[in-house]
Amino acid sequence: MHKAFCLLILMLFLAVYATAADNPIIASPSIVPKPAQLKLKPGKFTIDKQTRLFISSGDTNLVRVAHFFADQLHLAGGPDFKVEEVTKGDKTSNAILLTLTNDKSKISPEGYELLISQKKIDIRASTGAGLFYGIQSLLQLMPPEVCQPHNVVSDRSWDVPCVDIRDHPRYSYRGMHLDVSRHFFPKEFIKRYIDLISMYKINTFHWHLTDDNGWRVEIKKYPKLMEISAWRVDHEDMPWDGRPEQKPGEKATYGGYYTQDEIREIVRYASDRYVTIIPEIEMPGHNKEVLAAYPQFSCTGGPFTVPAGGYWPNIDILCAGNDSVFTFLEDVLEEVVALFPSKYIHVGGDEADKTNWKTCPKCLNRIKTKGLKDEKELQSYFIKRMEKFIISKNRKLIGWDEILEGGLAPEATVMSWRGVEGGIAAAKQGHDAIMTPGSHCYFDYYQADPASEPKAIGGFTSLKKVYSYEPTPKELTPEQARHILGAQGNVWTEFIPTTSHVEYMAVSRMIALSEVVWSPKNTRNWRDFQRRMANQFKRLDYMKVNYSKGSFKVGVTTRHDKKSGAMKVILESEQFDVPIQYTINGDDVKPSSLVYSGPFEVKANGVIKAGMFVDGNLKEKAVEMPLIFHHAIGKPVRYLKDYSYRYPAAGKHALTDGLRGSINHRDGLWQGFYGNDLDLIIDLGKEVPVNSVQMNFLQNQRSWIFLPVVVEFSLSSDGKKYHSFNEVANNIPTNEAQAIMQPFNFQFMENSKARYIRVKAKNLGKCPGWHEGAGQDSWMFTDEVVVF
Ligand code: ACM
Ligand code: ZN
Repeated sequence: MHKAFCLLILMLFLAVYATAADNPIIASPSIVPKPAQLKLKPGKFTIDKQTRLFISSGDTNLVRVAHFFADQLHLAGGPDFKVEEVTKGDKTSNAILLTLTNDKSKISPEGYELLISQKKIDIRASTGAGLFYGIQSLLQLMPPEVCQPHNVVSDRSWDVPCVDIRDHPRYSYRGMHLDVSRHFFPKEFIKRYIDLISMYKINTFHWHLTDDNGWRVEIKKYPKLMEISAWRVDHEDMPWDGRPEQKPGEKATYGGYYTQDEIREIVRYASDRYVTIIPEIEMPGHNKEVLAAYPQFSCTGGPFTVPAGGYWPNIDILCAGNDSVFTFLEDVLEEVVALFPSKYIHVGGDEADKTNWKTCPKCLNRIKTKGLKDEKELQSYFIKRMEKFIISKNRKLIGWDEILEGGLAPEATVMSWRGVEGGIAAAKQGHDAIMTPGSHCYFDYYQADPASEPKAIGGFTSLKKVYSYEPTPKELTPEQARHILGAQGNVWTEFIPTTSHVEYMAVSRMIALSEVVWSPKNTRNWRDFQRRMANQFKRLDYMKVNYSKGSFKVGVTTRHDKKSGAMKVILESEQFDVPIQYTINGDDVKPSSLVYSGPFEVKANGVIKAGMFVDGNLKEKAVEMPLIFHHAIGKPVRYLKDYSYRYPAAGKHALTDGLRGSINHRDGLWQGFYGNDLDLIIDLGKEVPVNSVQMNFLQNQRSWIFLPVVVEFSLSSDGKKYHSFNEVANNIPTNEAQAIMQPFNFQFMENSKARYIRVKAKNLGKCPGWHEGAGQDSWMFTDEVVVF
């Protein structure tokens, strides 16, 4: 071919390519949560002054959703649409048409179709919620400025790419929680919170309205809840834990509550955005604020004050032997039910310390007369009695997983927060469950290095970790799994005193969770999510949301290239647009260090150091990851016994990836075996000289992790016959207070050769008698099988 012609073709190609690439909207839709099906088509539709907005009938849902859309566009400086009911003669080109179909078999509840051609935009759904989600997706296809409130109408036009989207949620329960007791947030913020969560198709707001530090809902029948329980002494300048008790005569000035009118206004606001509000009224614990006003509902009689900060353990709880307590709660719920139309009423049930119940004459009498075994069954009695009342109001009870203890109320739904076990137990008993495990769903945990973050309650739940969450536990049969209704992010506010800090802690992780609960499991892809998040962040910037950009921590993984034998190092972070910088020669990482541009090869033992700089400042402590080269790098491992899904590290490659764990068992490099032994075979591919096998195991008895009783190594050349097993026994006591990493090494005879290496490590199996977990399954952790 002629050279000039080639050049012409190339230029043409570049021109076309550049147009698509320069227009990120056209090039790559950034909808979060990712739609179940999205087909990008050539071309675009332009929404401008001439575009008409039609609805298929006068149905209130259609009218509401159409106005929602028109208002948002107008607020952003777009045209001032009239919402028109479509009639036969209407030309529907250059139009947006919202259709409510009656055919639920075609479009599932909450599902929608969004079909955009160069002529028109069609949104169809069988419910108002589905239409609303179609609109949310349409807004996300528009440039981010659609989220910017303008005061002037600019009559600007808006391009959207042509697409066919057919979408529906994976889970019916998609929740976000907010604690307004530990810190009180005004009505306007609650509405903003609802705006934010509904943008991402979250359909439930779990409103934690009562707790020790303040009662937040007006109850007409009990005025002291507003006069006393809603207020505490202002010690906001002191650390949360250790704030002094209210002294006689000291004024309680910090707090507040929502009037019933305000609640009704918020419920309506939420309902217009297809968000259901589940109110939570705590019982029988986390009620110190109630007892401050009504000490007669306690076991001991008080007096009590509203705690100004941390209150632990939760000893002063409602008396379960006193019928007037139940009258009080029923009166309260009577008013609550009238305010909140939601199917569920949340009764808390968590963390009630039953110390007082063990000695209170009334509680003991209740245990006796009802034939209960102990105070756990007394809590169960309490919750069941409340459930009867709630059912009599045509509602359903939901509670934290402690309501399983002593027997679940007949129709209760369980919110699993102390891990996933509560949800699993509930589902196995045929009860519905909602997953909110601390590990992935507590958005009051740190999301980045604590050294560079505002104080949080503890833990570590990064954006990526939230994104990796799988709500349906593997243990469940398909039938049981149907009881997992969905998942929820929890925002406890002990360490979150302001609304802007709520945004900082909650918003990014809420968006990650929205994809977990909405999108098909097999479409989840972290890199693609990051790309789409960059676009979401722009929208949030326009809305002046104080979101966190997540962790600047660099993750190190390795990949072994089978063909070349090379070990490649992959560096990743949660940041999309800040470069990662690294060294491999032991030098500290500096702003002038190498910039990571993709997986790179390493050829010898060494240490990878990596970090990220913004304006010349290292954002988080640099990672330092030693790499070891050995015979088994990248070699396949066959597990005869499974590792736990809770600590998989890098899965089947974890023990031959060249990476070793730190003393922190949660660093992502340790693989955990729960209750069972380790038994695996490494295939080195061909027979090679084998001198030694080295493994580290971890002990951290406070986390129920113990060293193996014994580790055995054996070699084989054919994978069938193994030479005798060589044992290395443990000599470290189980009650060692400190966390320790202990090597278990074996040196083979000189000139030993093998293709297969079998390793067995015997798990202690059960936590020892002296341990808090006595008799329950114990953990065993290892990080690498190093073969030389
Ligand atoms: C809880 O975090 N206490 C449910
Ligand atoms: Zn009592």
